This record gives sequence, C-alpha cells and structure tokens, in this order.
Amino acid sequence: MAMVLPELFSKYNRLTTVVTAKQLEKFRHLIKWRKNASVLEIGHAEGGNSQKSFFPYLPSDLKEYVATDLSENMIEYASKNSTLPSVTFGQLNIAAKQVPLEYLNRFDHIFGFFVMHHVRQPRQAFRNMFDMLRKDGSIFLTFFKHIPSDATLDRLAKHPEWKQYGPENFISPYYYSPNPRQQWESDLSEAGFKCYELFEDIGKYEYVDENEYDNIYQCTCTILPTIPEQEQKRFLKIYLDSTKDGKNNSVEVRDGRRILTTNYEMFIASATKI
Ligand SMILES: C[S@@+](CC[C@H](N)C(=O)[O-])C[C@H]1O[C@@H](n2cnc3c(N)ncnc32)[C@H](O)[C@@H]1O
Repeated sequence: MAMVLPELFSKYNRLTTVVTAKQLEKFRHLIKWRKNASVLEIGHAEGGNSQKSFFPYLPSDLKEYVATDLSENMIEYASKNSTLPSVTFGQLNIAAKQVPLEYLNRFDHIFGFFVMHHVRQPRQAFRNMFDMLRKDGSIFLTFFKHIPSDATLDRLAKHPEWKQYGPENFISPYYYSPNPRQQWESDLSEAGFKCYELFEDIGKYEYVDENEYDNIYQCTCTILPTIPEQEQKRFLKIYLDSTKDGKNNSVEVRDGRRILTTNYEMFIASATKI
C-alpha cells in the first residue's frame, strides 16, 4: 500500500533509519557484493533512510542504483532530493503482474527496507524479484513480522462505522497466520529461491516525543487517503489513540512527559538466485 506524504515522512522519520542502521551493523555480512553491481531498491520512499543508513555501504564500483517505489509522490520527491549521482528513479509496484521488461535479468542485488509487510501479494513480489535478478544475484529485505498497527486495523475492520473502508486490506499479509515465518519461507521457495535465510530481529524504538510518533503513524496510515476528506481528522485521532494500546506500542510517563516506545519483531530475508 502506497505512502503519500513525502515531506512529512522526511521530516519525522527517524525510526526506519535508526533500526536499519542497527540491522545493517548486524546483518550486512549477508550481502556479498558483486563487481560493478546493478542495484534495485524497492519501497525507497523519499530516500532518507537509504541515504543515511545504507548508501555509506555501497561499493565504489557500482554500475547503477535504481530507486523505486509504488508511490509516485514519494519517487518524485526522492528524485529532487537525491544525494547519489548514479541513482535513477522509477515507479514500481513490486507485486505487479508484470514488471517493466527492461528490469528483467538485470540486477545483481535487490534491497527493500521496511517494505514487504505492506505488500499484499508477497509471493508475486518474490517472483518478480527472482525474475529481475541475474543468475547469482541476491535479495536483502527487512520487514515487520506484524505491523505495529495491525491490531488497530483488525479492530477497525469490525467497527460499524469504519469497516466499510476495508481496514483488513491494510493489515500485514500474515497477521492471522499462526506461523508467519513458514508463510514467508514458503513464498520465497515457491517464487524460485532455493537458497534463502530468514533471521529474526527483536528490538525497541523510543520516539523523541509524541509528535514524532503521531506524524510517523499518520504517514504510514495508508488507509487514510481512502477515508472521505471530511472524516479524516476524526478517523486519524481514533486510529492514533488505538495504536497506543500498550501492546506493540507502549506509553509511559517519565518526568511528566509521555514516552512512546514501539516493540518490534522483524524479519531479515536474504536469498540468492542460483
Ligand atoms: C514504511 S515505508 C519505508 C520506506 C523506506 N524504505 C524506509 O525504510 O524508510 C514503505 C514504502 O514502501 C512502499 N510500498 C508499499 N507497497 C509497495 C509495493 N507493492 N511496491 C513497491 N513499494 C511499495 C510505500 O509507498 C512506502 O514508500
């Protein structure tokens, strides 16, 4: 599901940058850089996270870096604010039935940070990645086991007023599965990846203040644009309050200030097209 607020995301997104930096410290040994590599990034959004936490690791002999996102707004903003000279931009739905022909068998590496939990057809997305990789090319993806707002969307899907907007369509793909790991592994395997690994990373992220939290949750509230404009403010308040439910997101009062923390469980997927 596309995110559509690049300026707001750029201003308030610290979460994915902090967490990706930590995860790359821990897992970047899984990336076996190929010479003169062609790189595709999916779900690049406005580019802030990649620029800060990932670009410092790019090899100097890179052939090309193609930054893509489902959202035209995001890619337009990213293309105007890019720091890497060799980067080109494109709009791409990673789960599309057909990806652009010029992307097939082209890439040595595909990356996606905090993206796959938004993709409703992960198996099709992995198939596309497989087809876009050259032989021995690899993927490196990070994504939530459950999006911290899944439980809220599940509640809203049963709400007499909000269920008409289909909140269930914005829940992460395997929220209702007793074994999300098995589902993701089966998708990777069915897509053609015979060589894959899925790691778990559990951690906590503390927001600078409640304003950061509210703005980030507004940006990632992909259902919001589908709600009638005159109802959006009221919906957003209900949504934000509900996400602070003490499960994935906890609230404590410290020195008179409300401190919000997200407890996350994420997967790091690494796979090679052999
Ligand atoms: C939470 S943001 C993460 C952005 C960035 N990678 C980061 O780590 O800050 C997820 C991004 O994935 C994009 N996205 C969602 N579904 C997608 C799809 N099917 N294909 C490609 N991008 C998608 C959204 O538009 C959004 O920009």
